[in-house]
Amino acid sequence: MSEKKITISDLQEKKNKGEKITMMTAYDYPTAGLVDQVGMDTILVGDSLGMVVLGYDSTVPVTMDEMLHHCKTVTRGAKNTFVLGDMPFMSYQVSVEKAVENAGRFMKEAGCDSVKLEGGSEVCHVVRAIVDAGVPVCAHIGLTPQTATKLSGFKVQGKDAESARELVQSAKDLEEAGVFMIVMECIPDLVAAKITKELNIPTIGIGAGKECDGQVLVYHDVVGLFERFTPKFVKRYVNLAPQIRDALTQYKEEVEEGTFPGPEHIFAMKEEEAKKL
Ligand code: KIV
Repeated sequence: MSEKKITISDLQEKKNKGEKITMMTAYDYPTAGLVDQVGMDTILVGDSLGMVVLGYDSTVPVTMDEMLHHCKTVTRGAKNTFVLGDMPFMSYQVSVEKAVENAGRFMKEAGCDSVKLEGGSEVCHVVRAIVDAGVPVCAHIGLTPQTATKLSGFKVQGKDAESARELVQSAKDLEEAGVFMIVMECIPDLVAAKITKELNIPTIGIGAGKECDGQVLVYHDVVGLFERFTPKFVKRYVNLAPQIRDALTQYKEEVEEGTFPGPEHIFAMKEEEAKKL
């Protein structure tokens, strides 16, 4: 378990030494505490919040207020882990000024250590302004869920040489613009490996193979709490939803049949006090 707050230099040092970087999403205080306790390097308060916690069909409707609310609960629970707040759709596209202001709110109001935003070369001017304002930025390329409609669905990106070359160029441009790390989602492992090799900054993969400098998964996928669908790149380490359903069913039945609460759950009164009732 780590004993001090993880920094950007620690993450860079891990890449330099060839040590893997760990990242998990979290959206609330108890989960952040668990992720922190196992010594994970980073927590992403992803806008996947919208789908796995808030019940939206996509990440598009997620608002700044929703993100900040959940980021605040996570930063209270994450003592040592480096926390990234995900900038929601339309919080950094409208104007550079608005993007800088919204990025700043993740640090000032929610206590995040950095922000993440989606996009390649086309968002470099926004990245530069946010970084210049003092907010560290992690980029997100490949399958970018906020613009899945533009990409014609949730599809693997960079499958042909031309689009793969564009991804490599985006990653280089983003590094040059000042991002400290890049998340790569749903791209062929060979492309992710090439980007990881050619960049000085760390790369984090999700559906991007094992050659990335680190890996991220969505917490609800890992513990079996999101049952609507499971992407190919997910490994489910425990299947909690059926266990929780069993526990809730048992509680409901015990209440209905009067076996809960049992004698061990009751606050007794002294006999002489009871007689005075
Ligand atoms: O929102 C999110 O959780 C993400 C990860 C899937 C990388 O962006």
